[in-house]
Amino acid sequence: AAVLGNMFVLPIGGADMPVVISLLNAFTGLSAAAAGIALDNTALIVAGMLVGASGSILTKQMAEAMNRSIGSVFFGSFGGGGGAVAAGDDGVDRTVRSTSAADVAIQLSYARLVVVVPGYGMAVAQAQRAVADLAAELEKRGVEVLYAIHPVAGRMPGHMNVLLAEADVPYEQLKEMDDINGEFARTDVALIIGANDVTNPAARNVRESPIYGMPILDVDKAQSVVVLKRSMASGFAGIDNPLFYDEKTSMLFGDAKSSVGEVLAEVQAL
Ligand code: TAP
Repeated sequence: AAVLGNMFVLPIGGADMPVVISLLNAFTGLSAAAAGIALDNTALIVAGMLVGASGSILTKQMAEAMNRSIGSVFFGSFGGGGGAVAAGDDGVDRTVRSTSAADVAIQLSYARLVVVVPGYGMAVAQAQRAVADLAAELEKRGVEVLYAIHPVAGRMPGHMNVLLAEADVPYEQLKEMDDINGEFARTDVALIIGANDVTNPAARNVRESPIYGMPILDVDKAQSVVVLKRSMASGFAGIDNPLFYDEKTSMLFGDAKSSVGEVLAEVQAL
């Protein structure tokens, strides 16, 4: 069983991982229910079936959101190895434009629409309150602020919704991927806070990429893109992100919470 488990799960990565986690979660419920039947324990059967059923529904929804079938997630790479594209092999010009908090503050203050794209880095930095404060300051100046929520941003389903709700961000400003993607064409600044894989255009055009086919947030369609992260390190899928070398993109390096705090101070000083 241990060998079979390893052969199934180890080669799975990139866009498939959230689906696998959710399926394994459903299996725990089903096995608890089976144990309940063997032990003739009604509470265990009911609790197990609840976890198994809700986990199965979530797995189906995650697979649909990631454009994958459950069969291809599990059996597509059984016993195989990962096939990441090496950085530098795809003909992308790798010039990175680094920016300052003062420049970002000016861009944001003169924008009409700013779309905030939160990701795992916002959760690590616990920057959600700082982000909500920055958005409130921009709104005071007449800037419209929306939040783009990718179904697998972060490390668990609904991760970003929970964090932003905790920071009292109004629910109507949170837009699901399908609703916000059409808005990027009229977006002045896409402000990416610790997100990486969910914005990676390789998912659209690099067939060999482990995230190929995964729907992404079309941030590269915005007039300009500002990325807040600490370094050029990759995200969960372990792959390079061509968005960071796009001529529209500027990088504000540093911990997301401190960077957002610095931008907020600069906006207030304008
Ligand atoms: P990721 O692609 O994992 O990228 C997160 C980025 O945050 C990293 O590149 C990292 O760059 C940055 N970061 C980390 N700590 C930071 C900090 N303190 N301040 C600023 N930036 C920081 O995140 P994502 O775009 O949200 O994508 C989620 C990934 O997780 C997807 O690949 C998805 O398949 C996978 N996944 C999701 C789930 C669910 S259900 N949501 C479950 C399992 C896996 P630096 O190190 O350079 O700062």
